[in-house]
Formats: sequence, structure tokens, C-alpha cells
Amino acid sequence: KWPQIIFSGIQPTGTLHLGNYFGAVDKWKQLIHSSNGDVILSIVDLHAITLPQDPKSLHSSILHMTASLVACGIDPEKCILFQQSKVPQHALLGWVLGTLTTMTRLYHFPQYKEKSATLKDIPLGLFTYPVLQAADILLYKSTQVPIGGDQVQHLHLAQHLVHTFNNKYGVTFPIPEYIVEVESGAARIRSLREPEKKMSKSHADPKSRIEITDTPEQILSKIKKAVTDFTSSVQYDAENRPGVSNLIDMHALAVGRTRNEIVDEAVGLDTGKYKLRVADAVIEKLSPIRSEFTRLLDSKDYLVNVLADGSAKAETIASRTWNEVKMRIGL
Ligand code: ADP
Ligand code: NA
Repeated sequence: KWPQIIFSGIQPTGTLHLGNYFGAVDKWKQLIHSSNGDVILSIVDLHAITLPQDPKSLHSSILHMTASLVACGIDPEKCILFQQSKVPQHALLGWVLGTLTTMTRLYHFPQYKEKSATLKDIPLGLFTYPVLQAADILLYKSTQVPIGGDQVQHLHLAQHLVHTFNNKYGVTFPIPEYIVEVESGAARIRSLREPEKKMSKSHADPKSRIEITDTPEQILSKIKKAVTDFTSSVQYDAENRPGVSNLIDMHALAVGRTRNEIVDEAVGLDTGKYKLRVADAVIEKLSPIRSEFTRLLDSKDYLVNVLADGSAKAETIASRTWNEVKMRIGL
């Protein structure tokens, strides 16, 4: 009954790393390629400001993220790539949805607990973050939402808000399904320093991740220093040998082969030698992305235009939904 609409978002904070690339961006590229309906990708700057941001660097991070996504192969002609704050209906629908859920429900979100743990005083926006996220999804009547595993509860809130809204005001939104990347077969890339954790742009140590803009020298150095263990053979065992297994995953994804093929080829190598092979593969994978990224950053006008075009397309859909919402509610 509902046309297929795929929605996902990414915050313009930090630089894309291999985890984002293999866990999210690569998946989006496949969806853009295979889907019949629209794929809508939002650079969620309104979410970014739920934690303190420096205005100058936030502004350049938005263009930086746009350049990164395009350099990774997200074709702005084939999807709607846009900047969240350029479409005011996100905040408007977020407000309405905030009237349909309770503080009790929001208190228990693990992401909120984690992010607010070190703060003396918690911004209201950080607390209501999942409500804005629900608005992002509902505004486009999204049917599928690719997310990371840590976002599942947030998607349940979005589904709950659809039920609540539809029951109260008449059927307006489809129930959004989520696509968790781990279930889709993609690996969770781990931190190079603490392999029991995921690779993340929010970890303080930049040596814990490989950013898509890293130079070959940086990539080699980070992979050489990657934490492994005291066994030197190259074998896949995610539970007991997360460091080595992570190298195998990165390698397999970089060259587009299976873990088994990779392990078979590494017979006889110790982890030290194997790291050089992994570094080569990652350098080769990232080198065209990095040069395209550098080229795009020099064409700031192009990037500004990409976001303006995408945001205009997004707003066409968003304003249609918002008008319908107002009509349903009696505003
Ligand atoms: P980060 O933790 O680096 O800030 P985000 O939370 O902004 O990443 O996630 C952006 C997207 O990248 C999400 O879809 C998330 O699932 C994916 N992602 C983030 N880190 C990883 C990882 N280490 N491995 C696989 N996918 C990841
Ligand atoms: Na995160």
C-alpha cells in the first residue's frame, strides 16, 4: 500500500571512518542501486547540536560530510542527499510528536544515558533526540530505515509514535521497518586500540579508527599498531581474538572477498606480516575515495549546490506531510 521510501541519517561530526563506510555508506549505495523508491539521506545537523559544537567547525563539517559521502560513491543525482536544518518541518513535526509520547518512555534509552552520563546538566534536546529522529523518519513516510544496532530502541519509539498518531488522528504514516546492518551480513568494524569496542568517530584517540581521508602513511602506521593478541597465526575467532578478526574483516570488505578466502591466503603469515597486507588492501580501497574527497573540498560551490538541491527536494515531500499533519490535528 505504501510506496517504498528508505530514510537514513548521519551526523556531521567527525570524519567518516571504515566502520561508517562498511556499516552504513556501502549499504546505502546498495539500496540506492536496488530500490525502486526514493532513498533519502540526511546530514542531521539539528541532532549534532544536542551536544556542544563550535559554529565555525560545525559549518565546515557539514560540507566535509557532504564531500565524504559523495566521494564514497553516494550519487546525489540518484538519491535525496540533504541538510536537515534546511527543512524546517523536521523541527515542527518533532514538536507534534513530542506531545504524543512521555518522559518516562524517553528516560530509559541507553544512548541518552550514555551521552548524558558525563554531563552535569542535561540539555533538553539531548533528551528529546529520539523524538526528532522519529520526525525525520515520519516526515517522508519512510518504510525502511537502515540503522546501527544501537538505534533499535529509537526505531521502536518511531513505530510507537506511528501507532499513536494513526490511532488518534487517522492513518497517516506507514510503520517504518528497520534494517540493522549486522543482520544484513555486514561486519561491525572494531576499534584498532580496544578491539572489544566498535570503531567510532566519537572515541578520543584517532589511532583507534581509519578515516576515509587518512594518507597511506597514516593507514599503514595505524594498522601496524593495531592491538592484536599473543598468538601469531591469522585465524578468525571474533570472540577470543577480536583484534585479528577485525583485521580479517576489514581486509575482506576492502577487497570484496569472504573471510575464509582471506584466511586461506594468509596461511603461514604471522600477524605482523599480515598487517602489511591488510594495510595495502585498505590503502588501495581508500585511495580513490581520498583523492575524490580532496577534489570535492576544493569545489565548495558544488557542495553547497548539492545540499541546496537535495534540501529543496526533501522540503517538497516534507511540506506535503506537514500540511496533512496540520489538517489531521486541526491546526
Ligand atoms: P560513530 O559511532 O562513529 O559516531 P554513528 O553513530 O554516527 O557512528 O553511525 C553512523 C552510521 O555508521 C550508523 O549507521 C552506524 O551503524 C554505522 N557505524 C558506526 N560505527 C560502525 C562500526 N564500527 N562498524 C559498522 N558500522 C558502524
Ligand atoms: Na555514535
